[in-house]
Amino acid sequence: MITARAHTNIALLKYWGKKDSELILPYNDSISLTLDQFYTDTSVEFSQHLKKDEISVDEKPLTGSGLTRAKRVLDLVRGQAQIHTAARVYSTNHVPTSAGLASSASAFAALAAASAKAAGLTLDKRALSILARHGSGSASRSIFGGFVHWHAGTDNQSSYAESIQSKVDWDINLITVLINTNEKKVSSTNGMQSVVKTSPFFPAWVKAAQADVAPMTEAILNKNLAKLGTLAEENAMRMHATTFGADPSFTYFQPQTLAILNTVRNLREQGVKCYSTVDAGPNVKVICAKADNELLLTQLAKIVGHDALSICNPGPGVTYL
Ligand code: DP6
Repeated sequence: MITARAHTNIALLKYWGKKDSELILPYNDSISLTLDQFYTDTSVEFSQHLKKDEISVDEKPLTGSGLTRAKRVLDLVRGQAQIHTAARVYSTNHVPTSAGLASSASAFAALAAASAKAAGLTLDKRALSILARHGSGSASRSIFGGFVHWHAGTDNQSSYAESIQSKVDWDINLITVLINTNEKKVSSTNGMQSVVKTSPFFPAWVKAAQADVAPMTEAILNKNLAKLGTLAEENAMRMHATTFGADPSFTYFQPQTLAILNTVRNLREQGVKCYSTVDAGPNVKVICAKADNELLLTQLAKIVGHDALSICNPGPGVTYL
């Protein structure tokens, strides 16, 4: 039995649209920061005694598209290892209860690493990133710690993530702001599929995101928080603009999402270096320097309360336990 741990990541330049949905090849490169707070532990064993794969997540049997994706990863591993045995998989997500931050990124990165090793394969991180990508696009980045670049590529072998800066030795962290919602969630998979098909803003989004890859990399290497944050916030707003342009139109924003975005903008006008990013949901992540955490926590708590806030630091890549 092999156990791997992978942390979730937040995209500073987002992946939003598949060029090839079988292989999960994105339209544009993306850049992320792996976080220390939220992670998944996954144990895998291949056993002659099993008739079929047994996969559980948080002690419940996995079903639906999650199951299909997990089997896809296991089948790729079996193919590479030339084995035909079924696998037993236990996966546990370590995210604050009902945080709404559970991520397929940490889950599939941990599954890729644990299943490859359990099957006797010795894969380097690039090969693990390619494998994890078949479970969920964003998982390709969670193989690495710190700042990570996923190259869109043009085929299976050229679409992988690599490290930009694995040890983050400068002052950057983020505050996750949980926003409660009873709205039915549009999954990232469905949301991006809809904008690719119907949003006239989609081509402009791809072009703008791709153009920001070099400046974002430079901002990271220069440890330039203001530049990094500005690029990240612009990128997130452009991604969400594609949803407003879709047919039918949709948005992940909730009233409190907009309230947080405004507060962050106002504080920035007052000289605080803070920047927002939002994924396929209502929650906001505020990128800032540690020195401003207290001030930001106080201001953000006025909108969502203290319990909805947590601080995340840069986190490590996948490890074996
Ligand atoms: C908005 O990786 O969850 O978080 O490949 O369909 O599983 P699938 O999508 P997923 O999409 C993540 C979208 C995003 C941006 C990002 O993480 O880059």
